[in-house]
Amino acid sequence: MVEDDTPVALVTGAARGIGKGVATSLLKAGWSVALTDIDEVAGQAAAEELARLCGASGRVEFILMDVSDESSVVACLEQLEEDFGRLDGLVNNAGIADPDNGPVEQLTLEAWNRLLATNLTGPFLVSKHAIGLLRESGGAIVNIASTRALQSEANTEAYASAKGGLVALTHALAVSLGSAVRVNAVSPGWIDTRDSQQQRIDPLRSIDHQQHAVGRVGQPGDIGSLVAFLLSPAAGFITGQNLVADGGMTRQMIYVE
Ligand code: NAI
Repeated sequence: MVEDDTPVALVTGAARGIGKGVATSLLKAGWSVALTDIDEVAGQAAAEELARLCGASGRVEFILMDVSDESSVVACLEQLEEDFGRLDGLVNNAGIADPDNGPVEQLTLEAWNRLLATNLTGPFLVSKHAIGLLRESGGAIVNIASTRALQSEANTEAYASAKGGLVALTHALAVSLGSAVRVNAVSPGWIDTRDSQQQRIDPLRSIDHQQHAVGRVGQPGDIGSLVAFLLSPAAGFITGQNLVADGGMTRQMIYVE
């Protein structure tokens, strides 16, 4: 067990993509991080890779967790308490990230339930079982929502509903937990989570970048730095909010000239 004052974060869905980027930013900011994921092989590999980033006091460890399964969530939190002894930050990032559910007339109840179980019920379950430790530390929660909570493409009903629900869960929790635990959401826009080899083989087009007000598609570190800020004492006056990080996409009018 860690016996020092190094803050400890739990990041769900941290084997790859945005979750791994968030874990990287937190490690660089001096946190210890429990990487959790349903994918044990990729999660272990990510933990070994990120261990090289740890400072003098920080550490990283992988713990298996399926966020949609309450017994798995309870077991993970018990393991975290045993191994780290504390929890200061929870990042509910795990999700089925493909928003396309096909035509709504063909969307099965099973597929709808599966997506909501991971993307909305998951953050509820992990928060529910982490709140005890977070109260003890005066910690904070960040939920990774999406700009799709605010606007849509066609055929994305399940994903949009889950992310809209997650933004609402964020302010409900923030009010319930009050001064004990701050709770915020981050809504990313387009984040390119592919590894450098995939990016080389299939590079994004110039227009993909230029359509953003900031002139580029996002990277996992763009979300990681915002999450690290929201979990830090510097964000002590911010709770219940949904912070959009999308390179300005949701601020542009697109009427045809
Ligand atoms: P990804 O697919 O690269 O990574 C998601 C991770 O979650 C995977 O490692 C997967 O194994 C894990 N996971 C899936 N189901 C799980 C479960 N039941 N329990 C535990 N872990 C589980 O996805 P990406 O792109 O990194 O997305 C991360 C989060 O960010 C998701 O919540 C997604 O909806 C959100 N997001 C992503 C955007 C993007 O452009 N990449 C934009 C807006 C939001």
